[in-house]
Amino acid sequence: MDDWIDYYDSTHTIYASKLHRDVHFEEIARDIIGYIASPDAVVLDYACGEALSAAKVAAACGKLILAEPAPGVRGRLIARFAPITKIRVRSLDELRSMEEKSVDLAVMNSVAQYMTPAELDGGFAVIKRVLKPGGKLVVGDILRPEVGMGRDVAALLRLAWKHGFLRDAMWGLVRTALSDYRQLRTKVGLQRYSEAEMLAKLAAAGFAASLAPVNIGHNPWRMTFVARHAF
Ligand SMILES: C[S@@+](CC[C@H](N)C(=O)[O-])C[C@H]1O[C@@H](n2cnc3c(N)ncnc32)[C@H](O)[C@@H]1O
Repeated sequence: MDDWIDYYDSTHTIYASKLHRDVHFEEIARDIIGYIASPDAVVLDYACGEALSAAKVAAACGKLILAEPAPGVRGRLIARFAPITKIRVRSLDELRSMEEKSVDLAVMNSVAQYMTPAELDGGFAVIKRVLKPGGKLVVGDILRPEVGMGRDVAALLRLAWKHGFLRDAMWGLVRTALSDYRQLRTKVGLQRYSEAEMLAKLAAAGFAASLAPVNIGHNPWRMTFVARHAF
C-alpha cells in the first residue's frame, strides 16, 4: 500500500517526542540483537524505518542490511550510517538482485500491517530467496483481528509511563487523532492476521513457523513469529 510508504516518508508524528522515538528504536534493536545467533551473522532488517539504533545491531553481527522502501528515509539512513562500513542501505527492489542464500537472520517488524496480503507474499518470497538454508525470518508486531486501537493506546501509555514521557504521549495521541495517520488508518486500514492465518501464510511461502513467546517492541497485544525454511 503506497499510501503508507508515503506516510512514513513524510514528516509524520507517529512518535510523540524525541525520547519516544529513541526508546522505540532502542527496544527494537535490543530485541533484534536477541535473535542474532552469531557475531558474524548477516542480518537483514526489511522495511527498517529510521533504525536509529542500528549501530548497536551492527556491533552485534557481521553485516547489517537496512532495506527501506521510503526514499526520503533511505536517504537519511545512507547519511546517518555512512561511517559504519558493516551497514548497507538498500531499497526493497534492490533485495531482488541480492546474492541468494546470503542472509542468516531477516527481521520484518511492524511492516506486514501496512502491506496488502499479496505484497506480504512478495516480501516473503524475496526474503526466502536470500536466506541461507538454516536462516531465520522473524516477523514482528502482527495485529490480531480481535484487538482494537484501545490496546495500542494502552501499550503506548505504559511505555510512556515507564520512560517518563507520559505528557508528550497524551499530546501525541491528540495529534495522532487529528492527523493523516488516523485518516489513513480509517481509510486504508491496517492488515490483521490471526495466529493460524499467519502460520498458514508463512507455510504457503515455504516457512515452518511458530509464535514467539513475546512480541518485538513494546506492544504485548501484538504477535511475533519465528520462521525457518520448510524442507
Ligand atoms: C512502523 S514502521 C516500522 C519500521 C521498523 N521496522 C520498526 O520496527 O521500527 C513501518 C515501515 O513499513 C514501511 N512500509 C509501509 N508500507 C509498506 C509497504 N506497502 N511495503 C513495504 N514496506 C512498507 C515504511 O516505509 C516503514 O519503514
